Amino acid sequence: MGNILKDVYLNLDSSKNQFEVDKNDTKWLDFNFNAGSNYYFSRNSSLGGAAVSLEVLEKMGLETKVAGSNLKLSNGELIDPDNSAEIYRYILISDSKASYLVPSKEKTTDFVPPAESVDYLYIDRSANLDLNAVKKIETYLELSEKTKLILYLNTSNIYNLKPLFPRAELFVLEENGTESEKTYALELKQTHPSRIIKVSESKFSYQNISENISPTRIDISTHLSLYSIGAATIIGGFILGNSVEESLKMARVNVENSKLDAVMELLELKDVASNLEPTENLELIAANLLLPKKGILAADESGGSIKKKFAKLNIPDTYDNRRDYRNIFFTTEGLEQYVNGVILFDETARQFADNGQNFVDYLTSKRIIPGIKVDQGLELFPDSLEKYTKGLDGLSERLHEYYNLGLRFAKWRAAFEVHVSDSDKVLTPTESAIEENCRILSEYAKECQAANIVPIVEPEVVYDSYYSIEKSAEVTGNILDCLFEKLREANVNLKACILKVNMILAGKQFRVQSTPEEVGQKTAEVLKAHVPEDLAGVVFLSGGQTVEQATENLAEVEKNRPFPWPVTFSFARALQDPALYAWAGDNTNYDAAREAFKARLIANTEVLP
Ligand code: 13P
Repeated sequence: MGNILKDVYLNLDSSKNQFEVDKNDTKWLDFNFNAGSNYYFSRNSSLGGAAVSLEVLEKMGLETKVAGSNLKLSNGELIDPDNSAEIYRYILISDSKASYLVPSKEKTTDFVPPAESVDYLYIDRSANLDLNAVKKIETYLELSEKTKLILYLNTSNIYNLKPLFPRAELFVLEENGTESEKTYALELKQTHPSRIIKVSESKFSYQNISENISPTRIDISTHLSLYSIGAATIIGGFILGNSVEESLKMARVNVENSKLDAVMELLELKDVASNLEPTENLELIAANLLLPKKGILAADESGGSIKKKFAKLNIPDTYDNRRDYRNIFFTTEGLEQYVNGVILFDETARQFADNGQNFVDYLTSKRIIPGIKVDQGLELFPDSLEKYTKGLDGLSERLHEYYNLGLRFAKWRAAFEVHVSDSDKVLTPTESAIEENCRILSEYAKECQAANIVPIVEPEVVYDSYYSIEKSAEVTGNILDCLFEKLREANVNLKACILKVNMILAGKQFRVQSTPEEVGQKTAEVLKAHVPEDLAGVVFLSGGQTVEQATENLAEVEKNRPFPWPVTFSFARALQDPALYAWAGDNTNYDAAREAFKARLIANTEVLP
């Protein structure tokens, strides 16, 4: 909803010498300027304000209505049967600069509730709502629970719109760099960082991902149109389930290539956007996987691991059951509040959510970054009891396919079993097993970055057998030293690379088990001593710790801050196991399973800084 405006463009012809120049070289219209004469050579008018949002969203294929108006798009043309544009804005263009004449007192917008319930209510930039109208909107939203609210905020409307904040799913925040803008937006940025789309005259952004814009047509680049087109396109992109990068790119394409009285159609937008240089920066994707107060869900157990898990509960290991199991996690309400990303297994990346959307697109539409396990399991070294990780063959082709499927990060696990002699000497992992696995990890990471995918490198010291916490620290430290040496040799950009690692604790069968305080302290010590500062971040696997143990230990690690990088969880078992037991292969237990999962998400995010 918003006001329908009429924008009148007056293109002043500076060559006609109708300007006076002052001592600062600023041109002023000649005192004798007469709008009725030929001092301007064109006079275009177009519908602006809410009409722009309607046109953008309709052309993206979304059925749209401006509340209380009959404005519609017909054969690509905006038709305003009631001639409802009551506000005229004059835009003076001269020497490629624009200035605006806007009414000093804008018409207030009344809220006319839609006759039928709507999926989204977007309060557009042009809306000028008084508290009375805001009250009406609140009442409407109370009755129409399913309607999602999107608010466009700038300095002039934010105070009146505040009562609607708790109900808003997304905010578009207009940034103009002024002090008052910074202050009003501060609180919102702190409380709802993942609900904010930012628009400014030079950039559109969402969290750490942004797209610079440089519209070439002066009428589009007037701030009036640029914000409206940009915001509506990003919102349309999000509603349609496009990734953040795609939505921002489409907005850039729309403001850079549209004509004001004919913005672009969805297919055209997608086409041009897909041919833009990938501005999406691997470092930013990595940073977005590590945003505060959230973790990464590892839902990437291989076929073999799932089979074993299901067998324990007599769940038939079928394609449908595996889908139903994964579906529990992905469709848990509010998942996006707890995780930045989800790691999938190849089969899952090709399966579908209940609404028919493929899981990758489904997660993307919740602005959760989907990733993929790309290693192909463990294999014994010849004549050895130690293992290496397979999967380098054909990796580059697979990564390109995954990128095209919409996957933006990958994971590769190397596993190291610790065996210690009676005289407390480390027998395994041997130096050569460490070398070779770290070399493979670095090759994998290099291939990922070449394919525009952020690598998670996961060397796991397996939490089993008989070894002390000191041995765990020693072995993990050696592995990390070797790993980062190999990554540097391979020229892997560490700022676009994430380490997934075990916590430091005594083996499961060791006579003295580690306390959470010891785990926290030793883990922090090892990380600080062996992980370079320029890495994007560190995430933990749970490694077979009990659900409570993993959370308690994570909490203790976090107490040893500060770290030079974000540190969070990327658990599989410690997040999923209670849900697996609650579900037990029976979809009538879905609610209980989701609740069990959510309890773990809450518990683990609560301990994060
Ligand atoms: P766990 O948390 O169950 O150890 O799994 C994490 C993981 O991704 C192992 O590769």
